[in-house]
Amino acid sequence: MNAVANTSAGPGVGASAAEPFMRIQNATKRFFGLTAVDDVSFDVARGEIVSIIGPNGAGKTTLFNLLTGQLRPTSGDIILQGEVINTLRPDQRARKGLGRTFQITKPLVALTAVENVMVGAFLHTHRQREARERAHAVLEQVGLSGRDEVKAGELTPAERRRLEVGRAIALQPTVVLLDEVMAGLNQSEVEGLIEVVRGLHRSGLTLMIIEHNLKVVRAFSERVIVLDRGAKIAEGDADTILNMPNVVKAYLGERRR
Ligand SMILES: Nc1ncnc2c1ncn2[C@@H]1O[C@H](COP(=O)(O)OP(=O)(O)OP(=O)(O)O)[C@@H](O)[C@H]1O
Ligand SMILES: [Mg+2]
Repeated sequence: MNAVANTSAGPGVGASAAEPFMRIQNATKRFFGLTAVDDVSFDVARGEIVSIIGPNGAGKTTLFNLLTGQLRPTSGDIILQGEVINTLRPDQRARKGLGRTFQITKPLVALTAVENVMVGAFLHTHRQREARERAHAVLEQVGLSGRDEVKAGELTPAERRRLEVGRAIALQPTVVLLDEVMAGLNQSEVEGLIEVVRGLHRSGLTLMIIEHNLKVVRAFSERVIVLDRGAKIAEGDADTILNMPNVVKAYLGERRR
């Protein structure tokens, strides 16, 4: 195992409760001339909800890709429970408990809701019946019970978002990254999905949430990290962060574009 030395400054193998569950350490991702993620560092504690905000192109999705393995950092480390996981493939990271949704959703439209979730459940079992039972339970968790046998292509947009969350949690993750799952939904749909996410949090999941809707960020209101042009420009509780002049400026800049 590629482990980090157990010093007082870093998380060790067999990390204690006081040590970070996840550590992002000087993570940088360059695409040719563009630095999409620029020397970003922060820790995530087990059971936390961390919101990631920032204007379009700030590097939020790229950061998630570094965490779940769709991309490898150009430099810096992604550390999960004391283990450097930079070079692990997405499926290997999923087995270590990292789940996510994608900003561009790809449900298998010809399959039913329960079949879509079963695809994820097969990470942990090869038994069809067990995967199906697990998938039904997941659909209940995301508020889709009764819609199990509906084809994904026939679900409403809000139901499809719930299905995406269900596909992520079917892998039985310990941490789930949600990439703009609320985008484009109306207020009551957003409120419904907030309740689903709260339920997941209560059940013990650690959550990282990319969100443009600041009402949603306020609703979760734990820790907020602001990215702008790849760099972390602020970090703190929602009330403090959303009133900071440089954060407001980053968002006003977005509106001007
Ligand atoms: N595979 C890639 N190759 C080259 N450039 C990329 C790649 N992926 C992302 N980028 C660039 O990196 C920057 C950050 O993109 P990213 O998608 O991470 O932003 P974001 O904060 O998620 O934006 P949005 O709010 O629009 O989803 C952008 O300039 C984008 O064009
Ligand atoms: Mg994005």
